[in-house]
Amino acid sequence: MSAVVPAAVRALFTDHETTALIALRRDLHANPELSWQEVRTQARLEEALRAFGIDDIQRIAGTGLVARIPGTSPEAPVIALRGDIDALPIQEATNLPYASRTAGVMHACGHDVHAAWAVGAAALLHRTPARGEVRIVFQPAEEVGQGAARVLESGALEGVSAIFGGHVDRRFDVGQVVAQAGPLAASTDTFAITLTGTGAHGARPHESADPVVGLAAVVSALQTIVSRRLDPAQPGVVTVGMVQAGTAANIIPESAVLGGTVRATTSAARDLMVGDVERLTLSVAAAYRLEAIVEWGERTPPVINSADGAAWAASAAARVLGEQAIVPFGVTNMGGEDFAFYLEQMPGCFLRVGAREPGGARIAAHSPRFQAAEEALFVGAAVLAECARVASDS
Ligand code: NI
Repeated sequence: MSAVVPAAVRALFTDHETTALIALRRDLHANPELSWQEVRTQARLEEALRAFGIDDIQRIAGTGLVARIPGTSPEAPVIALRGDIDALPIQEATNLPYASRTAGVMHACGHDVHAAWAVGAAALLHRTPARGEVRIVFQPAEEVGQGAARVLESGALEGVSAIFGGHVDRRFDVGQVVAQAGPLAASTDTFAITLTGTGAHGARPHESADPVVGLAAVVSALQTIVSRRLDPAQPGVVTVGMVQAGTAANIIPESAVLGGTVRATTSAARDLMVGDVERLTLSVAAAYRLEAIVEWGERTPPVINSADGAAWAASAAARVLGEQAIVPFGVTNMGGEDFAFYLEQMPGCFLRVGAREPGGARIAAHSPRFQAAEEALFVGAAVLAECARVASDS
């Protein structure tokens, strides 16, 4: 293990903690579980927390956990730290010695590191408490955009004044951290559209109401939302990623289905785009004598870091790593992240934590070759623990 992060970060952890956290992360990586199936993960995380002497642990949100670490002052604000814990349906191709042992399932988004750094933050705060109580939340089912809402429903965050979390990112070197106010991830609105007409022989289209031609027109019309309706200064995406229709080349089918996703970084842009998907679909379908049904699946708001949350996180990162470690995000991220649901309820900050070893490749998350540099675990744990200290001092 090369000394990528300042020795000061490693020095925050005892040898025992260092060994246990690396073993935990590798064990989670080798045994990934899909959203809502994190049963072994939940038990393993609970065991790791108890081994560090943390015993106020509750199972929440199905396969999640919350651990409470008492603060030194009962009146100080309660702060939450969140680590997500689920994996993805991908066949791993990293060749790591601790690569997934489960065919077709992989920690390709680094949530193994997020879960381990949440345990690391708990260990640091257990040893040197913040002023306020800290709730360490292990959240299931981030990849399907459902876990955060379930954590909120569980009441585990009642009385919490601010929340922090982060994501490993191989666009940045280990030791670099992004902690800035404003949009960090996009809203996600997944849609399915069913167009229904009248089937007929392919030779006699005048006897049909053809949903295939209607589908093509709807797909084209949806492309005008970003190009003609959205302010060019606003980021936005409408992608149709799935179309299904027909059984044979000479049959006009009764119906056609398409599916896609809408992304935006502000609520105003999101509302405009979502409204236009419905408006354009219904009017184009009517023009083609088709009935249309628009259904919405996974939906998450944009992640918008609050100004105070970002300031706390930046000062925490600077304390742990030095000012030079804080770097601008420099990209518009149209990916989704259900941490957004927490930030709708309370201030906080979602960080990007550098996870590329020196000279390493960028490697996108959700790639079968994705791996986060192990040192990122210690950076994330130390910075998040410090976020809790800074925010509960405020
Ligand atoms: Ni992720």
